[in-house]
Amino acid sequence: MCSGGFAKCLGITLIPLAIISFLCNILLLFPGGKPAEKNEDITDEAWFFGGILGSGVLMIFPALVFLGLKNNDCCGCCGNESCGKRFAMFFSIIFAGVGLLGAGYSFIVSAVAINRGPKCLVASNNTYIYPFHGGDYLSNKTLWSECSGPEDIVTWHLTLFSMLLIIGLVQVVLCGFQVINGLIGTIFGDCCGCCGGGD
Ligand SMILES: *[C@@H]1O[C@H](CO)[C@@H](O)[C@H](O)[C@H]1NC(C)=O
Repeated sequence: MCSGGFAKCLGITLIPLAIISFLCNILLLFPGGKPAEKNEDITDEAWFFGGILGSGVLMIFPALVFLGLKNNDCCGCCGNESCGKRFAMFFSIIFAGVGLLGAGYSFIVSAVAINRGPKCLVASNNTYIYPFHGGDYLSNKTLWSECSGPEDIVTWHLTLFSMLLIIGLVQVVLCGFQVINGLIGTIFGDCCGCCGGGD
């Protein structure tokens, strides 16, 4: 079982996902692609930083740790190959847990935001409010005209939060895999052939 190599693949996948999440969240702070006049005009969930912190920054640490596992774990620590590898795999479980929390947070924030709909300019009372309730706009596009501005705000909101939702889910699954992979590596050791049989 080459669990270090598997972890490296996870690390390589997690980094672009973290960068995309980060960018999606930044774009959500510009409703419809333009700077908002006031911060209150921006959907609250964009300020929860699910994509910037949860799926973004918090995910960089596990990704870097996973990437490093392949190199660390084949030579061990203090001349004890088996101990070093096992410690590295154990360490990776903690970081996979951090990643799980971050991605889970982003996933939940995105799900709430999709259900609630965007904050937008409602012409009838000329203020920024949440015109939709309980996800009703998802099944009835006629309702989208409630938002008179910013332009294409509903599409903007739905597209970006859907991307964050999907990325959050993928990251949860990948980090979950690494928890299991790390447990296997901790219990059985991880030898890729360079150490001559592990234990
Ligand atoms: C969609 O919403 C509009 C406006 O409230 C309503 O008139 C229409 O009946 C709704 N359509 C469906 C399929 O629910």
